[in-house]
Amino acid sequence: LTLPASATHGALTFELLARCSTTRARASILTLPHGPVQLPVFMPVATQASLKGLTPAQLADTSCRLCLNNTYHLGLKPGQEVLDAAGGAHAFQGWKHNLLTDSGGFQMVSLLQLATITEEGVRFLSPHDGQPMLLTPEHSISLQNSIGSDIAMQLDDVLVTTSPDAERMRAAMERSVRWLDRCLAAHAIPERQNLFCIIQGGLDVELRRICTREMLARDTPGIAIGGLSGGEAKADFCRVVAAVTELLPPLKPRYVMGIGYPEDLVVSTALGADMFDCVWPTRTARFGNAITRHGMLNIKHQRYADDFGPIEEGCGCQCCRPSPEDPESGRPAITRAFVHHNASKETVAAHLLTMHNVWYQLDLMRSLREAIIEDRFPARVREFFADLYPSGP
Ligand code: GUN
Ligand code: ZN
Repeated sequence: LTLPASATHGALTFELLARCSTTRARASILTLPHGPVQLPVFMPVATQASLKGLTPAQLADTSCRLCLNNTYHLGLKPGQEVLDAAGGAHAFQGWKHNLLTDSGGFQMVSLLQLATITEEGVRFLSPHDGQPMLLTPEHSISLQNSIGSDIAMQLDDVLVTTSPDAERMRAAMERSVRWLDRCLAAHAIPERQNLFCIIQGGLDVELRRICTREMLARDTPGIAIGGLSGGEAKADFCRVVAAVTELLPPLKPRYVMGIGYPEDLVVSTALGADMFDCVWPTRTARFGNAITRHGMLNIKHQRYADDFGPIEEGCGCQCCRPSPEDPESGRPAITRAFVHHNASKETVAAHLLTMHNVWYQLDLMRSLREAIIEDRFPARVREFFADLYPSGP
């Protein structure tokens, strides 16, 4: 394969720009119906059609060009009729960039203890009125068609358990393949919405290989790796991601679902993955936590009460960059002391930390991407870990 190389499939074009010569890291451009996205990328999660704490304009200002919504939440509220009347979720939320929707099953299984899975679909009780409901692959796709996301995800059978039973794991993997077939058959708008498969199989590398071959045979425009955000050991995580990426074709985007700790983003990028999402950066902001290259800091700590520095030195976010009122002063637009002062009772602290954390995640991915293109990715990875763990491993 000589680079750059590109392929158009479904409603996307994937252009591979560069590959690291010592790891599997790649830099590429994914062009979706709502514009290009530079990969590798972190996708912030706007569960209910809004990213908690940011307006769509503020989210766009972080340079985000692809964020997540959840089918399960939007299907319940505002519901399919309102989505259809609005002309889809982009118009509904005033977001002119790309959207990816998760299919809903994972959210139900992880949020609701009462969800049960049968061949038909996922049965659960509505959290609004307790009514029994059934999310089938066909219904998930119909909702995602109404949402009009640029990338839709198949409904999959995800096991959220720390001690999975091997038979159940194999059954869930096989059911996910059958559900992909039902999703593909139900998908009404392949010319303007990309449906991604989700590879399951738990921590069993052989099951993962079988699943990968089955999913690849269905030839979706992009490929996700699921079932990995459950707090498994890092070594298991790496073994599974590496075993799967080894089998994947070079000219399709690869999405590891539910991943968002900076270390996991760096490692997964090195293993050849391109796309990631997680609620953690935005959720932790609402608890007063700022992500920095030296680790997390909790702004509620008393030591920040009179700290007039930026949340993170050198950060280019709207908070940390020099004050636009007073650019010569060297003062940041927002100081740690100000965020600290507001952190216990005013929502503005959550807004500011969310802005900073989303920027941090996107900027980390940008720096990895530049390093891949400039052929210095391994050095960038070493620098990342040296900043985070200055005293070594
Ligand atoms: N989010 C995190 N992991 C998963 C997964 O395995 N499947 C789906 N649908 N969403 C996820
Ligand atoms: Zn910042």
